[in-house]
Amino acid sequence: MSGFEPLLPADVSGVPVREFSASYLQRTRTGMWDGAREALSELALDSRGRVLDVGCGTGELTAVLREETDATVVGLDANRDLLGHATPPIVQGDALSLPFPDDSFDLVVCQALLINLPDPEAAVREFARVSSDRVAAIEPDNGAVSITSTADPEARLARRARALYLSGVETDVTLGADAADVFADAGLADVSTRRYDHERIVDPPYSEAAIEAARRKASGAGLDDDRATMLAGDATPADLDDLRQAWRAMGRDVVEQMRDDDYYRREVVPFFVTTGRV
Ligand SMILES: C[S@@+](CC[C@H](N)C(=O)[O-])C[C@H]1O[C@@H](n2cnc3c(N)ncnc32)[C@H](O)[C@@H]1O
Repeated sequence: MSGFEPLLPADVSGVPVREFSASYLQRTRTGMWDGAREALSELALDSRGRVLDVGCGTGELTAVLREETDATVVGLDANRDLLGHATPPIVQGDALSLPFPDDSFDLVVCQALLINLPDPEAAVREFARVSSDRVAAIEPDNGAVSITSTADPEARLARRARALYLSGVETDVTLGADAADVFADAGLADVSTRRYDHERIVDPPYSEAAIEAARRKASGAGLDDDRATMLAGDATPADLDDLRQAWRAMGRDVVEQMRDDDYYRREVVPFFVTTGRV
């Protein structure tokens, strides 16, 4: 569609963006909205003409939106590498300074973006500028994730790792239902929130992604990614060494159990769909 061709400058300079890998986004979002489209009903997708998905990453939500509407759905992200996995129309840009005139869309939506921004209200104000009708945010509460696992210490170790991560992370990754306050503070009307529990099950036959996740537990690679954040919070290097040792032992147990088709894991991440009118 003209006006929404891929726009890929070398970088969006000055935009501090938390890094996500394409494989992480694809692994955690696949099937996320299967059987749960009703939770998106407040977005009134069937009556939309132009929709913007801000912080679209690899375009997992963008694809779901396109299935639910005849509208043109544009994906925007600051990260060019992630956009390389998304389907056009896509645009590289900054959520806080969207490269569109006022009222360009009738719905501006994001998923798991506000939790990564130091000033979510500024982003919501910018969404309201380019939307003529509705703004929506689908944000998790990462402090309320629950895990059950046949690898005995997995739930406890994951809770410990999450607590240490939360102590060091600079943005509000538990925003969830509180996004409604951000919407109200940004001046949106008719604000409402709906909870959707995203359940991810790992059971046999195991997918490639599940096998890779188990390998990362056994090697400690997943924990290592968050080391700097944890050290910025309550964790000492000794805490992390202890956690890493226990984590890797748990990972080896997961790999063992998978060999015998015995491993089962259930994770529930509460997401909150918040909408408001401009
Ligand atoms: C957790 S990912 C969510 C991706 C996608 N919405 C999903 O749910 O699969 C957060 C995304 O926001 C993007 N992002 C972070 N800060 C941004 C900014 N200031 N402007 C545009 N995109 C940004 C990141 O590059 C990343 O793709």
